[in-house]
Amino acid sequence: MRKKIVAGNWKMNLTKNEGLLLVEGVLNGVGDTDTKVILGVPFPFISDTVSMVEGSPVSVAAQNCHQEKSGAFTGEVSVDMLKSFGVEYCIVGHSERRQYFGETDRFVNHKIELLLDAGIQPIYCCGETLEQRQDGGHLQVIEEQIQSALQGFTKDQLKQIIVAYEPVWAIGTGETATPEQAQEIHSFIRKKLAQVMADEAEDVSILYGGSVKPDNAKELFAQKDIDGGLIGGASLNAPDFLEIIHSF
Ligand code: PGA
Repeated sequence: MRKKIVAGNWKMNLTKNEGLLLVEGVLNGVGDTDTKVILGVPFPFISDTVSMVEGSPVSVAAQNCHQEKSGAFTGEVSVDMLKSFGVEYCIVGHSERRQYFGETDRFVNHKIELLLDAGIQPIYCCGETLEQRQDGGHLQVIEEQIQSALQGFTKDQLKQIIVAYEPVWAIGTGETATPEQAQEIHSFIRKKLAQVMADEAEDVSILYGGSVKPDNAKELFAQKDIDGGLIGGASLNAPDFLEIIHSF
């Protein structure tokens, strides 16, 4: 049985008090749930958030890590640092990192390797742009992203990875993929994983991301291959985020 997961991605939002109040709000409302709840917080929030969520169903994700183990990379954060602060998950390959910071699947592949070695579960993001979808090339784009980012890993390693399908045209735009559009890609991703993992691809959680809100989460999460969501804007507001968590 694969896990249901709802992960928030705060991106570069909130100051200390706002962020810690949001964590408190989520903790107060999360209740007893079998959904894995993850907060993808900016680096400065990690230490406090990890302490606050201890003993709850909530875990902490970083939004990025560096692809080298350590060294002269001013301003960067290593996987070992994240591990030492108790981070359990890390988002990699987000389209904003690809677009603004030149992150390629080759880098992402290195990051995933370091994360797996450290025992941190990667949340690997893939997704096509509007242009790629309009050209009809979206399946090929997703296939290439998956192949290059996930190449070289064993079945056991792939089982640790969470995939997030995030069509770039739906991120922060208020436009959401229809449940059918999302399901089509999720099932395609699972088939690609099955070429390497066989039946065990059934155990990989594949999240949908892109303008998930309380009013569309239920329908998206009802799809066979959608195992939860990676939530940006709506994760910045505890009641909305909680409603999404409880929409399974
Ligand atoms: P959004 O962001 O929910 O604001 O569209 C999703 C994401 O980028 O992970």
